[in-house]
Amino acid sequence: MNVQPDLGAPGSLHARFPELGTGPLPAEPYVSPAWFEREKTHVFKKVWQHVGRVEELPLPGSYLCVDLPASDAAIIVTRGDDGQLHAMHNVCSHRLNKILYEERGRVPKLFCQFHGWTYELDGQVSRIPEERMFGNIDRAACALAPVAVDTWGGFIFVNVDPKPAMSLRDFLGPLILPLESFPFGKMTNCFTWRTTVRANWKMCVDAFQELYHVGFVHGRSIAGALRKDEHGALSPIDALCGEHHRRLSIAGNPHTVYGNPNAASSEGAAPAGAKPIAAAALRLGRNSMTERFDPADLPAALNWQNDPDWAFDINCVFPDFYLSLRPNYMQAYNFRPISHNETLFDARVYYPEVSTAGGRFYQEYMKVALRDVLLEDLSTLEHTQRAAETGAKQVMYLQDNEIMVRHQVWVVERMIREGEAAARAAEALA
Ligand code: FES
Ligand SMILES: [Fe+2]
Repeated sequence: MNVQPDLGAPGSLHARFPELGTGPLPAEPYVSPAWFEREKTHVFKKVWQHVGRVEELPLPGSYLCVDLPASDAAIIVTRGDDGQLHAMHNVCSHRLNKILYEERGRVPKLFCQFHGWTYELDGQVSRIPEERMFGNIDRAACALAPVAVDTWGGFIFVNVDPKPAMSLRDFLGPLILPLESFPFGKMTNCFTWRTTVRANWKMCVDAFQELYHVGFVHGRSIAGALRKDEHGALSPIDALCGEHHRRLSIAGNPHTVYGNPNAASSEGAAPAGAKPIAAAALRLGRNSMTERFDPADLPAALNWQNDPDWAFDINCVFPDFYLSLRPNYMQAYNFRPISHNETLFDARVYYPEVSTAGGRFYQEYMKVALRDVLLEDLSTLEHTQRAAETGAKQVMYLQDNEIMVRHQVWVVERMIREGEAAARAAEALA
């Protein structure tokens, strides 16, 4: 007996994306170490991965080190003397020491502390102490192993595949590229939290790509800031599922501070029902931004259904980059896999600069409000992972508005299937 309503019924999100299917979702991709190994090989060693923003590398010699355990890689990104970005593996060519130990900084050259080999900012060998003792060593062959690097919208992406199958722009494709005119570069005031969550990376992303949980997990915080539909449900305005990436458009309650993206820039009283501290923060923060944001300048791809109550769009840039865009701030999260059941959650919020203490107070209030919401989100994840790992259930059931959860597993499964087929074909030819 089919106990579920027809997810593919006309008008449903699932009907729009029939390739994703409608059945229960397998638990295996969330709990299996063997599955994670397949993801490492066919997903994380193949795709472009977000590692930071160009503002973090302002000057020649600025660098950024990023561990990518799911790619078996530790990467250095530098800004060279030529002003260009370079990326390379953080592994010395001599006896394979790690070259840079700090996460970020600025150096004139890349210096290995073990025996003093020195590299230019683009990874070419600069100096080998006692070089004559190596015989006729090939300096070019001793360059640091390069990694593909490119930027989009000021975000830095790397790809550890020595021959990436597609360019970053082709990878981002028609779902993400149209967001390029978003004023990313005007939002340089960044707040960061970072923690290790003992849960599968997909489980972590899932907690941020559906609204079904909001009425429960966030029942006392932000549930009232989102718009309910005629059934009292928190349904998204719309969802888009692409070849790799996905987008969700969300309506707010315009009578709240959190759910009204124009609250800080419009004149008049604070929304009715706002907590006193929220109203004070709003009042003090008005007109404090050093940048102007005209809604007409936002990319048309945002709020693509032109909903008057639109609050924000969530963009899940496959595999682990979450980019939530609002008219005057953005959230950029990474859910970087460490193992099949551990994830580094790197949460960043970017605001424009402010010129007054009141503006700073407003941003601090928004930041703390968001921190509490994130803690609510994290409160379930480790319990979910442990429960899923008992093996008591082999599948999970999704409702129509959880289509992004389904899409994520669909993309991962497809990449593994295609990667393994290609590997078998190459083996047959060999
Ligand atoms: S391992 Fe780097 S100089 Fe020897
Ligand atoms: Fe949440």
